[in-house]
Amino acid sequence: MNTKSAFAVAAAFGSLACFAMLDDAAASKAARETLAKMTLEEKVLLTGGSGTMTLSAIPRVGITKEWTMSDNSSTVRPQMKRWDWGYTEPRSENTKLPSLSALASTWDPEMARLHGEVLGAEMRDRGVDELLGPGVNIARTPLNGRNWEYLGEDPCLAAKMCVPMIKGVQSFDVAATVKHFCLNDQEWNRNNVDTHCDLRTLHEIYLPAFRAAVQEAGVLCVMTSYNKIDGLWASENKYLQTGVLRDQWGFKGLLETDWGGQHSNEFSANNGGGIEMDRGDEIKHHFNPKKETLPLVDAVKAGKVSEATVDEMALHVLYVMAKTGFLTGAPRKAGERNTKKHQQIARLIGEESVVLAKNDKGVLPLDAKSVRKILVVGKNAAEKQCHKGCSGEGNVPYEVTFIDGLKARLGDGVEIVLMPIPKGAVKASDDSQLAVDLSGVERAGGHLDKEAKKAKSSEPSLDEIKAVALASDATIVFTGTELGYDGNMESEGRDRSNMLADPGEDESIAAILSWNAKNTVVISRAGTPVGYTWVDAAPTMLMSSYLGMEEGSALARVVFGDVNPSGKLCHTWPKRYEDTGVAQLGTYNEKEVVYNERFYVGYRWFDRKNIEPMFPFGHGLSYTKFDVSLVGVEAEKDGGWTVSAKVTNTGKVAGREVVQMYVAYPDAKVERCVKDLRGFAKTKLLAPGESETVSIPLSARDLAYFDELDHRFVTEAGRYEILVGTSSRVIRGRATVEVGAESRF
Ligand code: BGC
Repeated sequence: MNTKSAFAVAAAFGSLACFAMLDDAAASKAARETLAKMTLEEKVLLTGGSGTMTLSAIPRVGITKEWTMSDNSSTVRPQMKRWDWGYTEPRSENTKLPSLSALASTWDPEMARLHGEVLGAEMRDRGVDELLGPGVNIARTPLNGRNWEYLGEDPCLAAKMCVPMIKGVQSFDVAATVKHFCLNDQEWNRNNVDTHCDLRTLHEIYLPAFRAAVQEAGVLCVMTSYNKIDGLWASENKYLQTGVLRDQWGFKGLLETDWGGQHSNEFSANNGGGIEMDRGDEIKHHFNPKKETLPLVDAVKAGKVSEATVDEMALHVLYVMAKTGFLTGAPRKAGERNTKKHQQIARLIGEESVVLAKNDKGVLPLDAKSVRKILVVGKNAAEKQCHKGCSGEGNVPYEVTFIDGLKARLGDGVEIVLMPIPKGAVKASDDSQLAVDLSGVERAGGHLDKEAKKAKSSEPSLDEIKAVALASDATIVFTGTELGYDGNMESEGRDRSNMLADPGEDESIAAILSWNAKNTVVISRAGTPVGYTWVDAAPTMLMSSYLGMEEGSALARVVFGDVNPSGKLCHTWPKRYEDTGVAQLGTYNEKEVVYNERFYVGYRWFDRKNIEPMFPFGHGLSYTKFDVSLVGVEAEKDGGWTVSAKVTNTGKVAGREVVQMYVAYPDAKVERCVKDLRGFAKTKLLAPGESETVSIPLSARDLAYFDELDHRFVTEAGRYEILVGTSSRVIRGRATVEVGAESRF
């Protein structure tokens, strides 16, 4: 295993980071001093973009250049033009790391720190001041077009992964932006849909990652979402913007709308609204940079908005500018980009994220030395993805597809044959597999018909594929999704039209699996669950999300055992869409979405209804075996506990295991989930026979539910059960702790 060398990279990289941000008091002072020098007109200039990705320079008061922003959560997107969505040319190139759904699948906060540090370093080198990421919306439905850009279905996992990532970004004296605040858990009609979620569910499921970003990571920027919440645009919602974000969580930083998410001038300003961002020539509510008009100044003069409100808005921006050293001219950390080290980290995070879903017959890892001919079925194995994904896209110096990765790993002597997965088995016009009526959303139907027909005429027959498979040393089926706007791809601004693989693929894969060709492996590459129908017939299966520019190298290294997979699913994989809570309670539409399933999201729903998923949340096997046992639960002075679990590698190769800690509620007097993830720990690389005892902290607050009447979290007195396991369905140890008296947070 070469994983050790990859960890050496991680360790070496660690020494580069430091926390050089100005402290709060100094930043607030600098911000206030600058504000005091500003005219009303100048303050208003800071309440909106001066272009698509910039805020105004105001040299008279010491803001000598424009503040610059760039997407996204996995790369620093090339710079955009001032007035539109186009890129300035020549486009800059940057490292593209794995998507956040992959990062979450590492279950390793250390990977999140590295991920953030690479982004921070690349931003500094590009002169970008604010990164528009990470996105921490929750995977409420597998159809959400942007699940690949988020950290999975569980608030604890999302919170624990976004904190080190944000710290990593900001350790380079630049700002991170947690987005999209909030309840933007579908893309279908995201610009207009009205979402309704009870307060308890909101605080227990959809807000914890945002709260952790603010309170634990000190994130400097928050982006509101496009959707409405209880009839009010998220960017005008006083309860969330002022009540929760500012007053309850103490957020002092820059709040901004998603691009085009501002709908008013005084109403938003008077309801805690942030600065207005949009495509440059569309910015208009607070001021219009193109026409150089200042409607917010007019609103102040007409007495509709107080100058104190504008002061607050400008102060938040100045505070962030001061924190990063942008305003004060304090030396900022130097960055770098496209270095070997960054590329190695991209590969390392990818490797750590890959999930071994099935290895029933021990087919994996393949032995590179005994392979002379490999068949890969699935054109996506050679299809580049890094330049796709809308605001999630990047421009990379190179991209290693899976086919490239195989070639590099195996060298010249091995024949690699690539064939598409035939779609001919399905009638081109068969739309019966659509699980929900999505009339109104940009739909795939017509495209699929055309594509299926086109593909059918040029695709090889199953017999032709079979002949190659039977003559090969290994057959790898590469299936899943693609990023983009055709067919049922994953992308921003629209959802998948169903949870299925492309028409015809399932039937062809079932046929391929029935041949029992030597060493048949399925790789599923998707950022969201896909309802494959052939899984029971597949003894060997790897699951991966979008891994960025080193995807092919990472996957090839897992396939051939250079890396022992240690990823765990960050989504429950349902067998079919109809099994999900959202599908069963009928709350998915494009107008008024009621979160009727409440906090029963992901595994919480499958637990409650006792539904067998295709793969449970947290699932992931290894090329070795681990013995996992609960060592003990020690009470701490602060009212919390430390839960210890011992992991022993009882197999033959080195590997890492993730210990997952769930909590159950035998004495609860209020409705609770069957269990909730409350912590986890990933071991170091354990040699065969080696053990490690991991410690997972558990606080009294971790046991709490949100009391809507009191608007606080409450931990009831009584017994709580601690479950320690290796997935949400494999529990290896249990213990009980007792809480003597109720506490509120
Ligand atoms: C997306 C955001 C992105 C912004 C700027 C919006 O359409 O929802 O995630 O940061 O555009 O590109």
